[in-house]
Amino acid sequence: MTGEIVKVNDITKRFGHVVALDHVTVSFCEGITGLLGPNGAGKTTLVKIIMGIILPDSGEAYVLGNNVERDPEVRAIIGYVPEQDCLIEEMNAVEFLYHMAIISGVPRKDAMERVHIVLHYLGVGDERYRAISTYSAGMKQKIKIAQALVHDPQIIIMDEPTTGLDPQGREEVLALIYDLWKSYRKSIILSTHLLPDVERICSHVVMMSGGRVIEAGPIEGMLRGLDGYVVRVGGSGEDVEKFAEVFRDKNSLISRDDNVFVVRSEPSDILRAAAETGVQVRYLGRRRESLEEKFVCALAGDEYGD
Ligand SMILES: Nc1ncnc2c1ncn2[C@@H]1O[C@H](COP(=O)(O)OP(=O)(O)OP(=O)(O)O)[C@@H](O)[C@H]1O
Ligand SMILES: [Mg+2]
Repeated sequence: MTGEIVKVNDITKRFGHVVALDHVTVSFCEGITGLLGPNGAGKTTLVKIIMGIILPDSGEAYVLGNNVERDPEVRAIIGYVPEQDCLIEEMNAVEFLYHMAIISGVPRKDAMERVHIVLHYLGVGDERYRAISTYSAGMKQKIKIAQALVHDPQIIIMDEPTTGLDPQGREEVLALIYDLWKSYRKSIILSTHLLPDVERICSHVVMMSGGRVIEAGPIEGMLRGLDGYVVRVGGSGEDVEKFAEVFRDKNSLISRDDNVFVVRSEPSDILRAAAETGVQVRYLGRRRESLEEKFVCALAGDEYGD
């Protein structure tokens, strides 16, 4: 795959009897990828394995070609916004980020400059000198993101970065993620269960459920792959049945509500079927399923838990 940044190869991870990841093989490429899945899907476990924070039972993960278990330098090329708290609240933002910069390998002479560049980028003003414990939830989230950016990594993994934020805070975080890719070419893996966030800013999607990857690819391709047409026909009951049969036979009838059909066929085929069965086409229009429908369909088709 062109622009591949992360490769996960046949990874399995168990916690006691729970299979958190079940033979997961997937690639992430440059851009913003939404790692989507309901609670317990295995998103955080996958992210932690990519970060080298936990080890898989079997399989390997690679970041820009480096094996995450064998090559510790991987940590320097990834920034990580964890799901849980990671701030030292008694410190102010400058102290905390300086500390994180040093831990992440930034030379001492450059660390303070990096801290202020990142805080400026995130729009944190004089409050940077106040204890983090006095910050709002949105401000704390910004500092969590700042600590992932302070060593100027090439890839940033964010685990549920908009959870718990009000609409304005969520909007700011999404705009920021988009800018990191658009202006700075940082690739982002955005783990979330919020589909609208993914539809807003992601170029690619990896959908997980029950420890497995159920879909992966460019978001555009996924939407295109689901294109269909809505057709409303008129005619005798018998002719309409014949019309329905044509699509049932071709396995391209998605749904039917009385005389309204949703079919996965080309318009020319739809019009031909209408002419052959004697029905009149009263309406013919393109139908685009949202990613949400796709997600729900994919979940319904997943055998996990059956
Ligand atoms: N340290 C652990 N010990 C035991 N079970 C765990 C542990 N970490 C994860 N699990 C289990 O593994 C499965 C996957 O969990 P994971 O946290 O990766 O899911 P997730 O997709 O991130 O979910 P969420 O959206 O709730 O954050 C769940 O069933 C979870 O309970
Ligand atoms: Mg999680």
